[in-house]
Amino acid sequence: MKILVIGGKGTIGKRIVEYFSKEHQVIVAGRSSEKYPVDIADTKSIKRLYKQIKKTGKIDAIICAAGEAKWAPLKDLSEADFHIGLRSKLMGQVNVVRYAHKCLRKKGSITLTTGILADDPVYQTTSAAMVNGGIHSFVQAAAIEMRKKIRLNVVSSGVVMDAYHKYESYFPGHPPIPMDKMLHGYRRSVMGRVTGEVIRIYS
Ligand SMILES: NC(=O)c1ccc[n+]([C@@H]2O[C@H](COP(=O)([O-])OP(=O)(O)OC[C@H]3O[C@@H](n4cnc5c(N)ncnc54)[C@H](OP(=O)(O)O)[C@@H]3O)[C@@H](O)[C@H]2O)c1
Repeated sequence: MKILVIGGKGTIGKRIVEYFSKEHQVIVAGRSSEKYPVDIADTKSIKRLYKQIKKTGKIDAIICAAGEAKWAPLKDLSEADFHIGLRSKLMGQVNVVRYAHKCLRKKGSITLTTGILADDPVYQTTSAAMVNGGIHSFVQAAAIEMRKKIRLNVVSSGVVMDAYHKYESYFPGHPPIPMDKMLHGYRRSVMGRVTGEVIRIYS
């Protein structure tokens, strides 16, 4: 398979790249990528990336492990703060899906990334939780009407082991998710037949 990983240099992304590279051709894109630069908050940038990739031949799967949202107490979040998550993690991933048919093969797959905050939020995460929940609903609805029989899923995991040192204090009592376990979610989406699924990996 030929797989595009957006955010492939991040904590989660680099594990996805490492895992799928064992048996597949993987293209790594991201904001700081020299070869495949993309900012998912900018629709033109996504279209440019897909055009660039199409020139190398169509791909079988897109995995997006990129997107940001502002963390702060609800009382301190400005409207502009909410727009960070709406533009990046929510509409960024929605636009990754909207234009994917331009470079994906028939029956290809798209896998988005959210997180446990959609179902089990913690203090200071109203914006991130809202955006994650929005993507879950989007995936379930959009999967019904994807072009070219493209499958669409989202992996929603708890705090992953590689990032636990950074987020532990925000998530009291949440068990860290082993990286291998998190990868099962992406494998299930890319290699399986499921579509419209929110793949939850919370323990
Ligand atoms: N860490 C966790 O425990 C955890 C658990 C569940 C869900 N998540 C979610 O999973 C996603 C990835 O998390 P992570 O911990 O791997 O984050 P990370 O270490 O900060 O990595 C994010 C990656 O995405 C890229 N990126 C960020 N914004 C982008 C944009 N607008 N356009 C294109 N690329 C962009 C970054 O590229 P540059 O470095 O080049 O900017 C980086 O490679 C996030 O949405 C996060 O909320 C994380």
